Amino acid sequence: MSERIKILVSEEDVDKRIEELGKEISKVYGDEPVHLICVLKGGVFFMCELAKRISSPVTMDFMSVSSYGSDTKSSGIVKIIKDLDESIKGKNVLVVEDIIDSGRTLSYLLEILKSRDPKSLRLCTLLDKPERRVVEVDVDYVGFEIPDEFVIGYGLDYDQRYRNLPYIGVVELD
Ligand code: IMP
Ligand code: MG
Repeated sequence: MSERIKILVSEEDVDKRIEELGKEISKVYGDEPVHLICVLKGGVFFMCELAKRISSPVTMDFMSVSSYGSDTKSSGIVKIIKDLDESIKGKNVLVVEDIIDSGRTLSYLLEILKSRDPKSLRLCTLLDKPERRVVEVDVDYVGFEIPDEFVIGYGLDYDQRYRNLPYIGVVELD
């Protein structure tokens, strides 16, 4: 069985969109500090690129939650693998995620973060698959809305592979 990759969003288009998001986010926070929370591992490429394009003072922390095995379908089970290093109390928190699919991971994560008393809490995702939503999530910034296809690249994996691709692609098996 061989795998071919079809490009869904080119490297150039991803870069351009992240630049726009950076500008939009910088306008919202202005001179106020913004604390970026990266959801590992998928969000890491996006967060680094986004952080470079935000002109407000930026700090960063990382969290890892898991709802998937090596399967491409949600098990519906979410658990914290790695919690934040620092308190978010009183901070302007911006959660940076790779993709919102069913919404289960994010709705769970946002509830936990809300209970920790941040000054503000917003959500930025590179990709959104609105057709797949099971649990409603308020998303503040979306890079691209995409159809219901399993995508890889720019942090997203298929069984831990392809995260390093500089574009968003779809794996075609044959
Ligand atoms: P949700 O809880 O169903 O919204 O799933 C969110 C997580 O599932 C994402 O952060 C990804 O890690 C993973 N995921 C969902 N769809 C895809 C996909 O198309 N490709 C790769 N990972 C995905
Ligand atoms: Mg993720």
